[in-house]
Amino acid sequence: MTSPAKDSPFLRACRREPVPCTPVWYMRQAGRSLPEYKQARAGIPMLESCTKADLITEITLQPMRRYHVDAAILYSDIVVPLKAIGFGIDIKAGVGPVIDEPIRDSRDLERLRPLEPGDVPYITEAVGTLVRELGDRPLIGFAGAPFTLASYLIEGGPSRHHDRTRAMMYAEPGLWNALMERLTAITISFLEVQVAAGASAVQLFDSWVGALSPSDYRTFVLPHTGRIFAAMEGYGVPRIHFGVGTGELLGLMRHAGADVVGVDWRVPLDEAASRVEAGTALQGNLDPAVLLAPWDVVAARAAEVLVQARIAESHIFNLGHGVLPDTDPAILARLTDFVHERSAR
Ligand code: CP3
Repeated sequence: MTSPAKDSPFLRACRREPVPCTPVWYMRQAGRSLPEYKQARAGIPMLESCTKADLITEITLQPMRRYHVDAAILYSDIVVPLKAIGFGIDIKAGVGPVIDEPIRDSRDLERLRPLEPGDVPYITEAVGTLVRELGDRPLIGFAGAPFTLASYLIEGGPSRHHDRTRAMMYAEPGLWNALMERLTAITISFLEVQVAAGASAVQLFDSWVGALSPSDYRTFVLPHTGRIFAAMEGYGVPRIHFGVGTGELLGLMRHAGADVVGVDWRVPLDEAASRVEAGTALQGNLDPAVLLAPWDVVAARAAEVLVQARIAESHIFNLGHGVLPDTDPAILARLTDFVHERSAR
């Protein structure tokens, strides 16, 4: 079946085809900074809201009503598939994922059984509804990458440098690889469910993998993320790969099998372009904190990103990480239109 979104500027840019102007979307555009999100979520715990198809649909569409963004991102979370297989995990407001019993030894791996499509019927239902509602605007599906998921499972919650995670990698590589294999299988199923239901692109968030050196990334992470991208290849949907603080890893993240590499705000896009092989589209990379500054600053910085992106084979405008909770939605609306106008060709 051909999706009506197939020729959208976002998907064209992912495929490095010419576009009328640079497509825009924002990581964490759904939720957080929107008053209508807070209203829709009132009294409903975060992870519970991610199991209700009507809420997933509504919250995914909220930013589409406010901004002229070129793609929607599914309202869900990287820990949803873990919760769905019965793993003891929750999201604490203002903190992030917290784990009842962190992974310590091989017996703990039994709590990470494979994910079946029947475990997440609300994802299938919400994606199906969204694809119909969005028409020619693409829906991006996503998952957390095994390293980032493992970091929560091993640390027990958010952490600064992921010391225990890195220690397990070095001290118990067998356990580490077994954990990564289980998470890889879960991630592939979670992405397959979204693509089968009609998602037009997928983004793999390896948010915290910037904690690793290139050689450790190559040894302990790339084989697993590589399997995820290889598994998604046959579906013909663009694969985006993003992490924070990954300046030294951009070439390897592309090498893992991504079509589009997301760049945080630390590496200018012209420099990022030289770190990835030919045939790569770039996504990014305005510092989300810039959006808390006056409009003149926002416009100047966004214009700079567009200039730096000229050398890239293709560019999708985004922030260098997610929208911060205090961001004024009016600024995001204005920024979206500014990028479209500035980049019109
Ligand atoms: O708009 C979107 O991007 C879609 C929804 C989305 C959420 N989480 C909803 C959410 C996406 C893509 C994610 C991914 C996610 N979740 C990542 C990768 C992206 C990144 O930012 O690096 C990570 C690391 C997580 C884990 C997680 N979940 C964290 C660190 C937090 C923040 C805790 C907080 O309150 O600041 C969450 C909670 C979360 N996920 C919220 C939302 C809207 C906030 C929950 C709330 O409003 O109570």
